[in-house]
Amino acid sequence: MYSLWSTASALIFAALASSVLSHPSIESTQLPLLIWHGLGDRFDADGIKAVATLAEKINPGTYVYPIHLSDDGGSDRTATFYGNVTEQVQQVCEDIAAHPVLSTAPALNALGFSQGGLFLRVYAQRCNSTPLWNLVTYGSPHNGISDFTGCKAGDWLCKGAMTLLRSNAWSSLAQSRLVPAQYYREINDTTLEPTDDYLEYSNLLADVNNERELKNMTYAERLAALNKLVMIEFADDTTVIPKESQWFSEVNGTSKEITPLRERSIYKEDWIGLKKLDEKEGLEFRKTPGDHMQIGEGELNKTFEEWFGPIKKYGTLTLQDSQSKGSLEL
Ligand SMILES: *[C@@H]1O[C@H](CO)[C@@H](O)[C@H](O)[C@H]1NC(C)=O
Ligand SMILES: *[C@@H]1O[C@H](CO)[C@@H](O)[C@H](O)[C@H]1NC(C)=O
Ligand SMILES: *[C@@H]1O[C@H](CO)[C@@H](O)[C@H](O)[C@H]1NC(C)=O
Ligand SMILES: *[C@@H]1O[C@H](CO)[C@@H](O)[C@H](O)[C@H]1NC(C)=O
Ligand SMILES: *[C@@H]1O[C@H](CO)[C@@H](O)[C@H](O)[C@H]1NC(C)=O
Repeated sequence: MYSLWSTASALIFAALASSVLSHPSIESTQLPLLIWHGLGDRFDADGIKAVATLAEKINPGTYVYPIHLSDDGGSDRTATFYGNVTEQVQQVCEDIAAHPVLSTAPALNALGFSQGGLFLRVYAQRCNSTPLWNLVTYGSPHNGISDFTGCKAGDWLCKGAMTLLRSNAWSSLAQSRLVPAQYYREINDTTLEPTDDYLEYSNLLADVNNERELKNMTYAERLAALNKLVMIEFADDTTVIPKESQWFSEVNGTSKEITPLRERSIYKEDWIGLKKLDEKEGLEFRKTPGDHMQIGEGELNKTFEEWFGPIKKYGTLTLQDSQSKGSLEL
């Protein structure tokens, strides 16, 4: 009886294997999940491990890859404060392109915490290895920060970084070495236009948000090719200033008046593809209660269920970007 059963199942497996082999990219319908942690965190922290475990519990078979800039957790944490973000994202892009699982997946889901969410958007725009499918960002400063108040008491690495940020964010030292300076953004409150210093010296944000005169349309094409960009704002955030940056809004620093993304030039003139993404219902604005990075397990469960389930759920997966391998019927 047992041997008969195993013969039958061996036959079934052989049949399955040959059908999988003739459609090699259907092998896994559960896309891998990238997680990019925030400032002051490390890829091997207990919190990130718990998030990864939960992701696998909700969607069994998920391959989770915590993004890291060093195999050493301490150095990975240092890299959240110090480094050139252009080079950091390039390194992540190369690591993913060389990774046996991530480089062969049809697409990747991505979950970014705080600045990690912004950097995953930079990955989507700049990197031509495996494209992203759904990108969910928690508390990410998509429109930059005008101040930062997140250092914990006794965190001298963080305090040193913030002192440097406040003393001269536009120095070449800050822009080439200090991570938060590269998404620091200054506007003139009378005009709500970015300052000349920002446009001239910002190493990251002014470029990836296409705020300069010369726009890189590759950024717009790639961002519009996402299936979903889900921006989740912490309702009572006191760390990311202004907190509305998490929904890509502009805030008048004097009157505190908020200009939502859909009323801004970056959207109306579609500098980075957000309008196109919105028109195909790919842009989501969500809120979650609490201060910066206060995410309950129930909230994460909802996110994993809603955005990171098997892609079968979404019908046809159309691969993004020029390197796409065509479209896939699931
Ligand atoms: C636009 O961005 C892409 C992706 O990062 C890059 O390969 C290309 O060189 C950029 N084009 C210009 C004109 O900077
Ligand atoms: C950051 O790195 C990129 C790539 O190496 C380089 O082109 C750029 O000049 C650097 N930025 C600064 C401000 O040094
Ligand atoms: C802001 O813009 C207005 C109008 O162009 C200008 O008069 C003013 O000097 C600017 N303020 C600063 C601080 O640059
Ligand atoms: C920003 O707020 C100040 C103070 O209320 C106001 O004078 C200014 O006109 C506002 N800027 C814009 C562009 O609405
Ligand atoms: C989240 O999902 C896990 C796995 O299914 C479950 O054990 C846990 O109770 C859920 N948590 C909440 C708060 O719903």
